[in-house]
Amino acid sequence: MKAVEIKPDIYWVGAIDWAVRDFHGYVTPNGTTYNNYLILDSEVTLVDTVKHDFADIGIGNIRELTEPSKIRNIVINHIENDHLTALGRVMELAPEATIYITDRGKKGMDRFFDTSKWNIKIVKTGDELKTGKYTLQFIETPMLHWPDSMMTYVKEAKLLISQDAFGQHLASTARFDDDFIDCASHTELETSVIDYYANILMPFGTLIKSKIAQIQKLGLEIDMIAPDHGIIWRKDPLKVIRMYLEMAEGKADLRVAIIYDTMWHSTEQMTLPITQGIMDEGVDCKVIKLRATPMSVAIKEFWMSRGCLVGSPTLNNEAFPSVAEFIYHLRGLRPKNRITGAFGSYGWGGGAVKWIYSELQNMKLETMDPGIEILYRPSKEDEEKCYDFGRDFARRVKEYHKNYE
Ligand code: FEO
Repeated sequence: MKAVEIKPDIYWVGAIDWAVRDFHGYVTPNGTTYNNYLILDSEVTLVDTVKHDFADIGIGNIRELTEPSKIRNIVINHIENDHLTALGRVMELAPEATIYITDRGKKGMDRFFDTSKWNIKIVKTGDELKTGKYTLQFIETPMLHWPDSMMTYVKEAKLLISQDAFGQHLASTARFDDDFIDCASHTELETSVIDYYANILMPFGTLIKSKIAQIQKLGLEIDMIAPDHGIIWRKDPLKVIRMYLEMAEGKADLRVAIIYDTMWHSTEQMTLPITQGIMDEGVDCKVIKLRATPMSVAIKEFWMSRGCLVGSPTLNNEAFPSVAEFIYHLRGLRPKNRITGAFGSYGWGGGAVKWIYSELQNMKLETMDPGIEILYRPSKEDEEKCYDFGRDFARRVKEYHKNYE
């Protein structure tokens, strides 16, 4: 995902981790993000870094805005691995930068890196750094949540960069609370209804419609619906009936689910420009790595989204096993009213993308042909093709969605 301006000349340059499900033992079913911020002022200043696995993405976001060698100041608010461990890579590119950190932070940082040649300034609550038009004020917050922790307040922007405090483990293409649509505003209860329908009732849409019509014909007065699982519907028992009828008619959100797996990260790498292309068309997107996600969740995400792209590496001329398993489950659920496509990578000979298309077409799902399949790692040119593929697909999804509005 590209850098996002959050205040004038202050950019989010972080990374989205769609696949993490175990964050040092904390179960993260919705993934997370590693946020850090670049201030493009007279003195270019980076606040925090990202987890080392995402260093290329974070640095790539910085490069979009400026050469990393131009970074003059780096503020390290917190030294836990998810925020500090890309610092070594950043310092290789900006060796003259000065690091602003608490005393305890410095002691911890020295355990990760050889800092003997780095410029480091220890800061305390109330200390300030003037970067040009902006003034950064440091506020130590020991034990919120580590001994080294601090926050950085950008005075003129009225912006508090609060490190872990006030965060959430939530991967999303939205960067702001007012952009976040929580799967198009479904409550948790509604999402549970959709989840159940998707995994159990998806094949029976026609039957559901006729049975509900039959019940309605009986003229029964219903002021409560008490199912065998979950919540009893008392306040608005007709709501769940409306939801079932809408789903039976093919209701979905204007959204793309990218459901993929990867062997050596090439297919995974393709998801990044594809996601960006989809987002740049104004369509929300959810990225699901199959081996990190229960199958029923992947099915639910498929069902909630008007469009779905399936990504797979080729293994023995066919799709990767977890992707084949997803297709197998989907086929049994006889999905309808969704537009789909496929992408993937291969080393010796391709085949996965072709196989996925033939399966999707056998299911009589609308498809956007052709898919995109690349050799080994995506080159710069391949990434551009992936971006265009994402944009084209999002356009098709928007067009197709009009049939259901
Ligand atoms: Fe997000 Fe305490 O690290």
